[in-house]
Amino acid sequence: MPLAAPIDNRQSPIDNHLMPQSAFDSIRERFAVLYGTPPSVVARAPGRVNLIGEHTDYSELPVLPIAIERALYVAAAPATDGQIEARSAAFEPPAQFARSEGHPSGAPWHRYLAGAVAELADLAPGQGAKLLIEGDLPASGGLSSSSALSVGLLAALSAAWGAPLDREGLVRRAIVAERYVGVESGGMDQAVITFAEPGHALRIDFRPPGRRQVSLPEVLSFVVASSGEEAPKGGAARDAYNERVVGARIAAVMIADEVGVDLDQPVTLGQVSGVDVVDILVDGLPEKISAREVAHGAQVDIAHIVQLTAETWDAQVKVPVKRVARHVLAEALRVQEAEEALRDGDLRGFGKLLDASHNSLREDFRCSTPALDKVCAAMRKAGALGSRLTGAGFGGFALAACTPENVQNVIDAAIATTGGPGFEVHASGGLEIR
Ligand code: GLA
Repeated sequence: MPLAAPIDNRQSPIDNHLMPQSAFDSIRERFAVLYGTPPSVVARAPGRVNLIGEHTDYSELPVLPIAIERALYVAAAPATDGQIEARSAAFEPPAQFARSEGHPSGAPWHRYLAGAVAELADLAPGQGAKLLIEGDLPASGGLSSSSALSVGLLAALSAAWGAPLDREGLVRRAIVAERYVGVESGGMDQAVITFAEPGHALRIDFRPPGRRQVSLPEVLSFVVASSGEEAPKGGAARDAYNERVVGARIAAVMIADEVGVDLDQPVTLGQVSGVDVVDILVDGLPEKISAREVAHGAQVDIAHIVQLTAETWDAQVKVPVKRVARHVLAEALRVQEAEEALRDGDLRGFGKLLDASHNSLREDFRCSTPALDKVCAAMRKAGALGSRLTGAGFGGFALAACTPENVQNVIDAAIATTGGPGFEVHASGGLEIR
């Protein structure tokens, strides 16, 4: 379901990108009509498209996403009654709860709101807020509408309460806030939404933490296309996602145990990816095993392996381990190669890496779907340099890289396959607060 775009329906996202002022003004006007008072702040949090590095972030391995021109706008004003009231044409139903209650029950999107409010418990404790959320970012999975919502809410609420967060703190809190929905996601989305620059991809490293802007060749265009299947993080995709997270953590513990890494603290595949014989060790991993069996065998605290915030994971469930680790480690190498290909202007090489990423996500990681495979194949056939699912998968959106003259063909082919939506995206700037 696309997030309805009452603010700028008549403009293309590109116009919107070039003239964001109109979107800021128009949400301000609607806020004033709705609440009888102007907002004190509007935050614009863009969507993101991950170019490559899929399902690597929570293993502390690198990613290479862009922010796009489609965005969510969050307008906020403080309220003295301690009530949080939030409305949106995009998210239903409206939310209203006392800030002291913390966790309103209700629609899934209320949990993102509750997460953001709870993460700001230390700021302006007695105050409430009125909020309006609008935008043109489809919410069906893959373009990170959930992280845009979390980042936008934290930025707008903290500013409205007179205690704006610095950007590093904002990213840290947004990562935690988003886990309130029970998905153990990594830190890619919040970082790119906050720190992206126009015309650049953002290479993000987690171990040690680092970011660098990667300039994109002007002759490289990007198209995204819906698979026609939704994959909302608060819904069915959640358990499938968490299963992969647990599988990657089990693999890390088992490899670390083999090579004598200290298991007192949680370990990640990023920590063991540099080991000489890591490929051989991956080959020796079991196809499936449960966290409980591994904890017992390696004599580690089961909580170090599972590490899930929400108590939604059964540690006795056997999860895929070998093929998950194989994908994650190979994908991390592709991120490095993709960055080099972009730097060298090797568009064909870059496209091939996207295809290889998709194959690995389909065959090893198994988060693709027949509909995603089909739309990727259609876009390749229409002349794309390469194509892959983007985001968590299990439905949602696919990405194609192409030359500018091929953009329309690729969009048409995608829409003919799935019915759309499919559109061009441009590497855009991150969070703006006005
Ligand atoms: C979701 C998560 C990210 C990342 C991707 C997969 O978008 O929010 O942290 O794990 O899936 O790469």
